[in-house]
Order: sequence, then C-alpha cells, then structure tokens
Amino acid sequence: FVGSGKRGIVMNNEIIRELITTALETRKRSYSPYSKYAVGAAVLAESGSLYCGCNIENASYGATVCAERVAIFAAVAAGEEKIKAVAVVGGPADVRDVMPDEASPCGICRQVMREFGDPAEMEIIIAKSINDYRIFKLAELLPESFGPENL
Ligand code: THU
Repeated sequence: FVGSGKRGIVMNNEIIRELITTALETRKRSYSPYSKYAVGAAVLAESGSLYCGCNIENASYGATVCAERVAIFAAVAAGEEKIKAVAVVGGPADVRDVMPDEASPCGICRQVMREFGDPAEMEIIIAKSINDYRIFKLAELLPESFGPENL
C-alpha cells in the first residue's frame, strides 16, 4: 500500500507520473538475485489508492512472482475489487531511473489483470522512465480474453 489522498480516479498526467514514480521506487526493492532483472509495478485501484509491487524471485525458480502480480494481490488483499491502471518498469538490476528497454507484462500477469477490471478500460503504462512511456488498454495486450463473466 502506498497511500491515498486527493487524487481522483481518472487518469491524468499527475496520476501517470505518480504511478511511474511509485513503480521506479518499488523496483529498488526488487529481490532478483537470479535473473538480475529488476521490475517495479504500481496499481491504481478504483478507490484512488495506489499499491506497489516488485518481482520476488526464489531459489526454486518457479516460485518467483512478477512485480505486477505482487502489486495487484496487495490491492486485493487491502480490499480493492477493481483496478483502473497498472504501471510497470523493468530492466537490469544495476540500472536506475531510465530503463534501456520496456518491460512488457508477461502472459500470466495479463490474465491476472483481466480478473479485476474491464479490459476495454484498464490502462497499462509500460515505462522506460518518468517521461518515456506507452499506455495500452488491457484489451490490446490480451485480446479475445477469458474472464469472470465467462463463468
Ligand atoms: N518479471 C516481472 O516481474 N514482470 C514482468 O512483466 C516480466 C518478468 C520478472 C520475473 C523475474 O523475476 C524476472 O523478471 C525475469 O523474468
């Protein structure tokens, strides 16, 4: 949990900056001794609160959890039911602030995002830095998806 406050629940430049800044800050706490690839994520929930995550690896590699899922699960554990946006930044662990490349969310994380919002509305910010990013709708990243309405 990062905090809540005056911020509205619509995406504007201030919220985008806050999401990317939070993702970059949280990335510093990445536990990634195996891949040495550090990822940070920030979630904007429907309440207006922000939640953060970093990737957390494990000596049993398959137990690793991505930054995006850590942030989404933190939001859900705090009582959030809907997610409006997710920001993600990733790159070599020894790099700070400006990533050499984009870190695009993995397929498992896209499916987890799908559970907690309308794919036509949810926005995914893939950032290299505070002023170098692209924004996608989840539906663009996960077309023809399967979700809660299908059950
Ligand atoms: N990783 C993430 O945290 N998010 C992504 O979207 C891609 C991959 C992590 C998992 C692992 O700790 C490292 O990056 C290399 O795959």
